[in-house]
Amino acid sequence: MVTEIKDPIEIRHYLHQHPELSDKEFETTKFITNYLQKLGYKIVTPKDLNTGVIAEIGNGNGPVIGLRSDIDALPIQEKTGLQYSSISNGVMHACGHDFHMASLLGAAAKISNQKDSIKGTIRLVFQPAEETHVGAQEVKEAGGVDNLDAIIGFHNKPDYGVGEVGITAGGLMAAVDQFTVSFQGVGTHAAMPNLGNDPIVALTTTVNTLQTIVSRNENPQQTAVLSVTHVQGGATWNVIPESAWFEGTLRTFTHEARATAKKRFFEIVNGEAAAFGLEAEINWQEGPDVVNNDSNLTKVVEEESAKFLRVIKPVPSNAGEDFAYFSQRIPSVFVFFGSHGNTDWHHDDLVLDDAGLKYAIEWYYRIGFKLLEYLRK
Ligand code: NI
Repeated sequence: MVTEIKDPIEIRHYLHQHPELSDKEFETTKFITNYLQKLGYKIVTPKDLNTGVIAEIGNGNGPVIGLRSDIDALPIQEKTGLQYSSISNGVMHACGHDFHMASLLGAAAKISNQKDSIKGTIRLVFQPAEETHVGAQEVKEAGGVDNLDAIIGFHNKPDYGVGEVGITAGGLMAAVDQFTVSFQGVGTHAAMPNLGNDPIVALTTTVNTLQTIVSRNENPQQTAVLSVTHVQGGATWNVIPESAWFEGTLRTFTHEARATAKKRFFEIVNGEAAAFGLEAEINWQEGPDVVNNDSNLTKVVEEESAKFLRVIKPVPSNAGEDFAYFSQRIPSVFVFFGSHGNTDWHHDDLVLDDAGLKYAIEWYYRIGFKLLEYLRK
């Protein structure tokens, strides 16, 4: 039976072989639940949570510390050639969430061996659907992070070596916004533009002008990125189409930068549309906020981590992470953990180094106890 697996490396390989997509992590949920039950954890997964596992251990008297791992995989066909490759066609743990789960399960075993010395509660939060950026919110709304005094988590970092950890106070991962814009013009013969209203000229001018948001409106000392990534319009060489469309994303690290960019975006798109005498429709979707580390807790985590890991100052990532949903509400620390991979996240040939697991296990374990001690004071 698979739940007999004890070794974290074997656990990781098993989970890697059996990846599941966001909000469909049913077998993964069963595996984790069984494993934690055997260790003596109280399973407290809210009934409104279809996938994911929340479990607790401790004497209930004192602070409550959350240790978080995400559990979902990506719609990618694996091409690693590993002996433990995914057996699920078109689904792969290409972001290393299998590494995160194996680390937290390994730590869970260590914590349960010390359960009589837990002065408070340690709550394990195995969160679904990180890749679609809805899982943290699902957990929160179901009550899975109620009453937490602090929560920690990490993302593996393939370009960090084994035993390295990146820790910084403040913004670690960017706020993510997503947009689409469609211009409605009037189609006509390419040779008679005066008889229509060309949405393609309006679109190209707008895309260029949007690049001035970062270069002219944002604080040059702070990072912001705006990328238009997908453009559509027209079908052939001699017809001006009646509409044109584009989409893209904005990444920022402060609420001010985020608000400035959004305001200027609407002004520019609507202004250009007016200049060309046509209609623009903007669809703006807010994704995760900034992953923001609490400065006091970060100090504690950094000091403890430095006792057994090489701590480095991370360059904040423009990628998003829905742990932000927790970090905006609960004092938290999110770090990058060395997984010594051959390539970066979301690649179909990503292979991570199992040697990093024992450090990540130790990190969850030691920081969990350390924060209990710190918050009791
Ligand atoms: Ni990830």
